Amino acid sequence: MSRLERLSALGKRQPSKTIHQLFLQDTKRAERFSVHASDLLFDFSKTSIDGDVLSSLLSLADSCGVMKKRDQMLSGQKINQTENRPALHTALRRPCSQPLYVDGMDVMDDVTTTRRRMEKFSDGIRRGSIKPATADQFTDVVNIGIGGSDLGPEMTTLALANFRDGPTPHFISNIDGAQATECLRPLNPKTTLVIVASKTFTTIETMTNAAYVREWMQTGAGESSIPRQFAAVSSDVMKCVEFGLNAQQVFGFSDWVGGRYSIWGPIGLSLMITMGQDKFRQFLDGAYEMDDHFAHAPPEDNLPLLHGLVGIWHHQVCRYPTRAILPFDYRLRRLPAYLQQLIMESNGKSVTMDGEDLLSDSSPVIWGEVGTNGQHAFFQALHQGTQVIPCEFLVAAMGQAHEPKPHHDLLVANCLAQSEALMTGQGNSDQPEKNRHWSAATNIDLTPHRRCGGNRPSTTLIYPRLTPFTLGQILALYEHSTFVEGAILDINSFDQWGVELGKEKAKSLLSAVEVAQELESVSGSTARLLEFIHTARRRPEF
Ligand code: F6P
Repeated sequence: MSRLERLSALGKRQPSKTIHQLFLQDTKRAERFSVHASDLLFDFSKTSIDGDVLSSLLSLADSCGVMKKRDQMLSGQKINQTENRPALHTALRRPCSQPLYVDGMDVMDDVTTTRRRMEKFSDGIRRGSIKPATADQFTDVVNIGIGGSDLGPEMTTLALANFRDGPTPHFISNIDGAQATECLRPLNPKTTLVIVASKTFTTIETMTNAAYVREWMQTGAGESSIPRQFAAVSSDVMKCVEFGLNAQQVFGFSDWVGGRYSIWGPIGLSLMITMGQDKFRQFLDGAYEMDDHFAHAPPEDNLPLLHGLVGIWHHQVCRYPTRAILPFDYRLRRLPAYLQQLIMESNGKSVTMDGEDLLSDSSPVIWGEVGTNGQHAFFQALHQGTQVIPCEFLVAAMGQAHEPKPHHDLLVANCLAQSEALMTGQGNSDQPEKNRHWSAATNIDLTPHRRCGGNRPSTTLIYPRLTPFTLGQILALYEHSTFVEGAILDINSFDQWGVELGKEKAKSLLSAVEVAQELESVSGSTARLLEFIHTARRRPEF
């Protein structure tokens, strides 16, 4: 049977029972449809997956060779075929003592050397032995980067803010000058460290922002501040030196680390500086523990595999178009954006590895918001809207030690209440009279308005407390479950050719934005928008 036939056969297996009924018929359902790995418990019992579906999903994974592809990825084979390279981000969190041979070379040599250099640099900044040009200590660190060179550092520094005891982190990513000016306004150029993070060192947003910040620093702290107060992270070290940076403060990494998978190496420098090398190591250890679990756990207990299969079930089989990421953990407020890049840039593809048209859907739309804020915004549609939106809840059993416990208890109660309510709904009893709601004031039958159909699927990922270690586990879990989905669809999860098109178009449109001119190569719509821009720019009141 082909992959597609298997997927459509799965579609015909939709259980006739509601999720709630599945619980009533199986008292052990919660245990059978959840998996515990290290500190994480992933509960997918509040989905419509039953025993038959689960075994079909597992045999789908088997027939698609997911575990074989996993081994190829972890051993450094060139699974990113369109770019002719391995996808070896897992090497970045591997213990230095464990060699990993790719083409006869131990890649851990380079990884270890760079990690040691990062540690030395970060320690020097934190202890004050590496000083700014004219002051004693760095107070702030600005990371300039975009996509994977921003989302990872920003999301993780926010997530682990409680563990921060070094300089304050700031981020500039957008080409919109509003972000750079707002970021720099409160900062002192004499005590600020700047990290230019760009794998390619060509990304227009990053290079424009880097040049702008360099000028800001030259003006405020003098020419000598640049080599001392600028560092860079890139796989093109030569370009960093050409930009005027001190090679001692440039941290390279191999092209086999994709941008959205890069937080574990030098792109995580700002995180290491703000919380220190020991906690950064714990973050890597958490991820490594998940790698080890993914590599060795049997399929039926393999958390990333099961997580990925739930994704396939909801999007490719049940055809739910989107997936909501709902961390009930304020510190994970940038996680939905981070996962948007991880999942959509990895799996938003239309062709198979062989370049054939994909005959099933690829990535769902990923979106989300932190709880409980989302509850008071879009949760209404989750409960009563016409589209079914599978929800992924994330929550910690405990808040941080210094945080008020009553708050955390309420947070957890709200998270649990949402998944219960989505599943059970309200007003669905067999006795219609029991559900009746009549508004005496308006003489309106409120029954249909108040009814929540229920049977809306959700999963919950629960962990003891958000620490560097658990965050490492969570992010590695998502990386691997994204890989699992891509492997089942037979797509290359590690390239991103689509992003390039927009970048090229922006370059060719720049001169028409700068100066009004006739452009034959653009549509009437874009020509009209350009005309508006130039007319507006001539209006004296602006
Ligand atoms: O947005 C596309 C992308 O290529 C991402 O994959 C990457 O994370 C980002 O641009 C930034 O690229 P770079 O690190 O090379 O500046």
